[in-house]
Amino acid sequence: MFGGFGQLIQVLKASPKKIVFTEGSDPRILEAASRLLASNFLSPILVGDEDEIVLAAEDSGFNIRGANIVDPAKYENMDEMVEKFCELRKSKGVTPEQARKILSQANYFGTMLVKMGEADALLGGATYSTADTVRPALQLIKTKPENNIVSSCFILVRPRATGDNEVLAMGDCAINIKPNEDELAEIAVETAKCARIFGVDPQVAFLSYSTFGSGEGEDVDKMRNAAQKAKEKMPDVPVEGEMQFDAAVSPRVARTKCPDSQVGGHANTFIFPDISAGNIGYKIAQRMGNFEAYGPILLGLNAPVNDLSRGCNASEVYSMAIITAALA
Ligand SMILES: CC(C)(COP(=O)(O)OP(=O)(O)OC[C@H]1O[C@@H](n2cnc3c(N)ncnc32)[C@H](O)[C@@H]1OP(=O)(O)O)[C@@H](O)C(=O)NCCC(=O)NCCS
Repeated sequence: MFGGFGQLIQVLKASPKKIVFTEGSDPRILEAASRLLASNFLSPILVGDEDEIVLAAEDSGFNIRGANIVDPAKYENMDEMVEKFCELRKSKGVTPEQARKILSQANYFGTMLVKMGEADALLGGATYSTADTVRPALQLIKTKPENNIVSSCFILVRPRATGDNEVLAMGDCAINIKPNEDELAEIAVETAKCARIFGVDPQVAFLSYSTFGSGEGEDVDKMRNAAQKAKEKMPDVPVEGEMQFDAAVSPRVARTKCPDSQVGGHANTFIFPDISAGNIGYKIAQRMGNFEAYGPILLGLNAPVNDLSRGCNASEVYSMAIITAALA
């Protein structure tokens, strides 16, 4: 865990929050929940069958005494939830019977707990796919009024020999499959904001296979135009592109490829042209560059909902729970 977590925990201590876990009986969730219960800044709400959750906790040896367990099948405010759900999805013509069936699923039920103010945040995805964790949030919690899309970023952290941490932000590695220029500009604004929360003074590079016109192609134009649009949206933040990754991070390469660039050689916030590049890129940093990867952190939603990797461990669940709740 990196130093910045202390700051996030302080935020939560000043204003404790409730977080929903949609996979209440998963041992990794139970371990993280037991650690949270031993603290006083974040209360877990575990979705699922109470007997099953208690048994799973006993089997795996985690103390979850005091946890709030909510079973969709026994939820006392289900009628109200169904009504609210139908209202939210009325443009889709959802009937109460259909709503009841949908809300028996933990991902939709948990999301509605946040929507109805029963919880402040949600963390899912230990077993659900990204799409199944994110879709209910897109449909029910929806995009903030000032945003056009929900996007995401990863925060990457690696200790330096000097004892402090190198912290980077990368977007969008998980949600928007082929963002257009305007969407990329919005992704950059949101990723830069998120970088700041983690103590990064953002220097934003729009990545490409070309550095300031050294290569040609549709994607080169897209990244150049998107960088320009992002610059207009946040004139106080250094934003440049299109540029190659080496020019963005290596001062030596930047001196050759883009000697007049302010961001070149010093970038710490990276915007990828599409989800393939982004997803592969952050995983290379994580698996071969020894960075810890936190995310995907969803950006632009009306309330914080985050997605775990299905390969996550309990420590990652605990960290992501703190990040998610602190964003509330
Ligand atoms: C995010 C994602 C799941 C949405 O896909 P989907 O559910 O098939 O999307 P749909 O087009 O059916 O839209 C569902 C709803 O979400 C909304 N939506 C979709 N993408 C959105 C976005 N980026 N921002 C805001 N809203 C969005 C739609 O408007 C729609 O709303 P509505 O039902 O109220 O009309 C999809 O973009 C995706 O699969 N992305 C890649 C996820 C992934 O595999 N990541 C890699 C692993 S980390």
